Amino acid sequence: MVLLTIASVLSLGLGRALAQSGVISPLARACPGYSNNTDVVCINRYASAMPPSFERQSSTGGVFSPNDTFVETQVPSDPSFGLVKNATFVVFDQRGSQILGPSPKLESVFASRNDSIHEGPVYVPSLDAIIFSLPHQGIYQQQIIHLNDSTPRLENYTTTPPVYAVNGGKLFNGKIYWAVEAGFSFPSPQNGSLVAQRPGIYELDPSTGEVTTLLNNYFGQAFNSPNDLWVDDQGDIWFTDSWYGYAINVTVYPVLRPATYRFRPSTGRVSIVEDSIAQPNGIGMSPDRRTMYISDTGVTDFENYPADGPLVTATTHWEEILLGSYIINKRPIYQAQTFGDDGFHVAQNGYLIAAEGGGVTVLSEYGEMLLRIETGFTVNNIQFAGPERKDLWVFGEGEIARVTWDLVGMANE
Ligand SMILES: *[C@@H]1O[C@H](CO)[C@@H](O)[C@H](O)[C@H]1NC(C)=O
Ligand SMILES: *[C@@H]1O[C@H](CO)[C@@H](O)[C@H](O)[C@H]1NC(C)=O
Ligand SMILES: *[C@@H]1O[C@H](CO)[C@@H](O)[C@H](O)[C@H]1NC(C)=O
Ligand SMILES: *[C@@H]1O[C@H](CO)[C@@H](O)[C@H](O)[C@H]1NC(C)=O
Ligand SMILES: *[C@@H]1O[C@H](CO)[C@@H](O)[C@H](O)[C@H]1NC(C)=O
Ligand SMILES: *[C@@H]1O[C@H](CO)[C@@H](O)[C@H](O)[C@H]1NC(C)=O
Ligand SMILES: *[C@@H]1O[C@H](CO)[C@@H](O)[C@H](O)[C@H]1NC(C)=O
Ligand SMILES: *[C@@H]1O[C@H](CO)[C@@H](O)[C@H](O)[C@H]1NC(C)=O
Repeated sequence: MVLLTIASVLSLGLGRALAQSGVISPLARACPGYSNNTDVVCINRYASAMPPSFERQSSTGGVFSPNDTFVETQVPSDPSFGLVKNATFVVFDQRGSQILGPSPKLESVFASRNDSIHEGPVYVPSLDAIIFSLPHQGIYQQQIIHLNDSTPRLENYTTTPPVYAVNGGKLFNGKIYWAVEAGFSFPSPQNGSLVAQRPGIYELDPSTGEVTTLLNNYFGQAFNSPNDLWVDDQGDIWFTDSWYGYAINVTVYPVLRPATYRFRPSTGRVSIVEDSIAQPNGIGMSPDRRTMYISDTGVTDFENYPADGPLVTATTHWEEILLGSYIINKRPIYQAQTFGDDGFHVAQNGYLIAAEGGGVTVLSEYGEMLLRIETGFTVNNIQFAGPERKDLWVFGEGEIARVTWDLVGMANE
């Protein structure tokens, strides 16, 4: 009896101790150096041990829930988590605050169309402008943001011939290379006459607006819908070919399996380099040119996930590049903390900056979570711009915003 009582007291005490021990309190606090800036918050130990009553919504039925995020996690017994919901810059790692500079800022620059994603932004130093695209059924031109004046100016941008549904772009040797999704003919925005087009890789001369077709088939088979690309130092174009062109109804039902290819414009040769990623999306390369990164948005695989099943966050992979021609040793480096990673860019110091759900994620070169920027709108892609490549332009549904901080982008990235 006495023993039992002692035992139950012990177990009660022990139970309480077990539940509490290791739980991090507070989960969030003002960041050192940003004590008066509620826009910046630091997460203690990645919030790795929360009070057990935490609850995060999950997305089901193939539909992303805006509350299925780290910052919208409910943590009723830790009021400090309110700091996270109020902040724009959520710092997980000291390296995350080191790139913020003394007064980081996220500002909305343009309200934009909310019926289309915003993709393929490319900064053109000779124009001091960003050319980007609205890949959406019925939009047959691109847009340009002029940065050479006191305030940024947004205009429509129509090429010759016009191009339908650009989804990715990179600058190389003064030319823009475009990954283009649409395979349906469309009316020219200039004069209404029908323009025929196939999905593929196109080259734009930004000084004249003229567009040349570089690649539109694989031995007679049309590509599905090239999504994004990266150009290596010898001018070879590495591009992802996923199924989103069909998903947005700008081309026919996919024939080729989703894959990543290397295309050599100087000879016309195309070689497959990867075919195990569900839906290859963003693509980029480490500054030392040894590691290729490819994001996988198979989370949106409209054909293959069960309609009533849960959404699983998507992963980003890296692969080592060998002899400039092959990629080997694929391994996952990061699982999206929310939804999946879309377009991304590699900073001068090797960090990865990714468009991910309702914000921007900054990872170390090894895929470690350093910083989240919560933008309040779904982000599709990003681009460093300006003479020092320090402004990060953020393109998403309904909004174009700018982050000013201390991280520097690479030329041509
Ligand atoms: C923060 O605000 C307090 C009170 O307004 C002020 O005394 C302090 O100097 C500020 N600290 C910084 C780092 O700006
Ligand atoms: C998300 O959570 C907020 C409260 O935190 C709630 O008002 C809103 O309805 C939720 N949205 C969805 C789609 O569940
Ligand atoms: C978050 O912001 C709201 C509204 O400004 C404020 O009422 C609340 O106290 C803030 N929460 C924290 C934890 O600072
Ligand atoms: C999108 O914009 C249109 C026109 O500005 C507006 O009527 C509509 O409510 C917006 N839709 C959403 C989902 O914000
Ligand atoms: C900025 O560029 C545009 C387009 O090239 C040009 O029309 C405009 O005059 C330029 N503005 C300045 C201040 O140079
Ligand atoms: C771009 O063109 C569309 C029509 O194609 C027009 O509705 C829209 O206002 C134009 N946008 C800008 C920024 O000029
Ligand atoms: C319409 O514009 C295209 C360029 O966008 C041009 O190639 C074509 O000749 C024009 N057609 C007519 C009928 O003017
Ligand atoms: C898809 O696009 C084609 C060609 O532009 C059009 O005829 C068709 O109506 C579209 N389908 C839907 C569901 O919008």
